[in-house]
Amino acid sequence: MKKLLSSVAMALAVAACSPQSTTTESSQTPAAATERASASAIKSGVDYHSQSNPDQMKVTHLDLDLTADFDAKRLIGSVTLTFDKLAADASELVLDTRDLDIQSVTANGKALAFTLDDPDPELGAALRIDVPDGVNKVTVAYQTSPQASGVQWLTPAQTAGKQHPFLFTQAQAVHARSFIPLQDSPQVRVTYTAKINTPAELLAVMSASNDPDTPRDGEYDFTMPQPIPSYLIALAIGDLQFKAMGERTGVYAEPALLDAAAEEFEDTESMLEVTEHTYGAYSWDRYDLLILPPSFPFGGMENPRLSFITPTVIAGDKSLVSLIAHELAHSWSGNTVTNATWRDLWLNEGFTTYLTYRIMEMVYGHDRFRKEAVLGYQDLTADIDALPDNDEILAIDLRGRNPDDVFSDIPYEKGALFLRELEQKVGRETFDKFLVNYFKHFAFKSITTDEFVAYLDSTLLADHADKLDKDRIHEWIFTPGIPAGAPVPTSDAFELIDQARSNFLSGEVLASSINTQSWTVHEWLYFLNNMPESLTDAQLVALDEAFNLTQSSNNEIAHSWLMIAVKNEYKPAYERLYSYLVSIGRNKLVKPLYQELSKTAEGKAFAKKAFEEAKPGYHPLTVKANEGFVE
Ligand code: BES
Ligand code: ZN
Repeated sequence: MKKLLSSVAMALAVAACSPQSTTTESSQTPAAATERASASAIKSGVDYHSQSNPDQMKVTHLDLDLTADFDAKRLIGSVTLTFDKLAADASELVLDTRDLDIQSVTANGKALAFTLDDPDPELGAALRIDVPDGVNKVTVAYQTSPQASGVQWLTPAQTAGKQHPFLFTQAQAVHARSFIPLQDSPQVRVTYTAKINTPAELLAVMSASNDPDTPRDGEYDFTMPQPIPSYLIALAIGDLQFKAMGERTGVYAEPALLDAAAEEFEDTESMLEVTEHTYGAYSWDRYDLLILPPSFPFGGMENPRLSFITPTVIAGDKSLVSLIAHELAHSWSGNTVTNATWRDLWLNEGFTTYLTYRIMEMVYGHDRFRKEAVLGYQDLTADIDALPDNDEILAIDLRGRNPDDVFSDIPYEKGALFLRELEQKVGRETFDKFLVNYFKHFAFKSITTDEFVAYLDSTLLADHADKLDKDRIHEWIFTPGIPAGAPVPTSDAFELIDQARSNFLSGEVLASSINTQSWTVHEWLYFLNNMPESLTDAQLVALDEAFNLTQSSNNEIAHSWLMIAVKNEYKPAYERLYSYLVSIGRNKLVKPLYQELSKTAEGKAFAKKAFEEAKPGYHPLTVKANEGFVE
């Protein structure tokens, strides 16, 4: 781990923003690379990932009318965009699109002239619409491509019930443009309505008002009355049923998973209550969960009113429900107060990760909180060891890069650690009040890191100048690594696990004699994640025989064990490894395995075979993130 003196770190941060700084990323687009080279410094608030022109004409509302054609794998229909003209001389509305087939653009029934630029590989193609004076509403008729980066079409065989197809969208970060032509920037907030047509036996749900009792007739209407950024627009269609978990909470899932999901996540209502109690009223009416098929590329996605959730966290013992706390917390940090650009993602994910720990502590107690905090911190230090300095900065420079390619624990765990330090310095009560005010002050706004810093300056810092200092805050946000003296989490419970591990490794204690009766998933993860890089065959066999790790039904434990198996070429686990890779599409679980396998020729051949079999069922994002490992 790096411990940088703050002056050195500052110099590095400045260098990171300078035109001379270079990057080793392969995802640079030539145009963006040129822009980076010629730019003197990154401009706060400029969205380098959208080609739209909200500073001139700003879209405020969408009316969607779409039909899901499962045979053609296309969404077909139209969107009507209402916008405000901000610049008096503006005559063009520029929208983001990717792989869309634009059929017509009209206003009041009359055709408008438009052009579609050549696509930029990362940003897509700008759609330029000539807007006559007095027009503030245009309708774009279009259809999506079967390969749309933000839509996955699943065949019946790829679902739990095997009878019906399934569709879901995933817009964050820059994929809404692959299923709606719009201003795809988190600083543009829109309200929306939608009419969605589906095969009659299927149910459509959206990040909007969902009526669990709606007649299942293939015609569904939605309203999202609060302004949300484009990355939170979401749609799913499938053989879905609803089960209530509490007054304001419920779960949508395929019938085969419904009861298990409702039981696993039954504490959602309590989570909602404690979060409201601590951070202010919930602004979004209902909070429901949608359980996706296992190909969902993320753990969860905070689509407003309806978080999208991977089924891989249904463990049977609520051990992985911090994911729900996380997606729920986004209702405050992210959906109510939103990052203005992807550089500011840490404002969403860091605040949310901090809130997640707090919610988990309130619902499940201090010991669990401490264990989860240690595991999160270890993920962070692993990333700090692996990432280039520039990618360890909270306010990261993403110019010329696709935000998907820079996904790491930095915005999450470093962001949370920073807030925990603030909390510890000013005291929990004061910090909670600060957060309540912050969420109120910026409600339904999209803000930059600089706006946050200015707010912090004029509130917490002004009131507690004796406890906080500007340089320290700057060091956290604008320099790489973890500042020396950060509040490193510890857990007494894990000290016992360290002992058990070293007794086993030294040969003093047999695996079968370790008393694991009281271990939860957290103990297991800590035990496994901190094993040395290489273990002997005898040790691997002893662990597997004593604890049946290869067959663990907990997907996180299985992941940690399979990582050990790959590093040590422990072949008895490879059959499970294969079925794990072909049955799960959650990138966080499969990518490290592909990456590790790709380090040897034999491993790569194995990975290639699994990848080829899995590919038709993987989400486009999971394909893109892993195909490089098997080439
Ligand atoms: N909003 C994110 C997922 C995301 C981030 C998608 C950036 C695209 C770009 C979601 O809230 C999230 O953080 N999911 C995590 C959950 C985990 C940290 C508990 C995941 O999917 O692993
Ligand atoms: Zn998140």
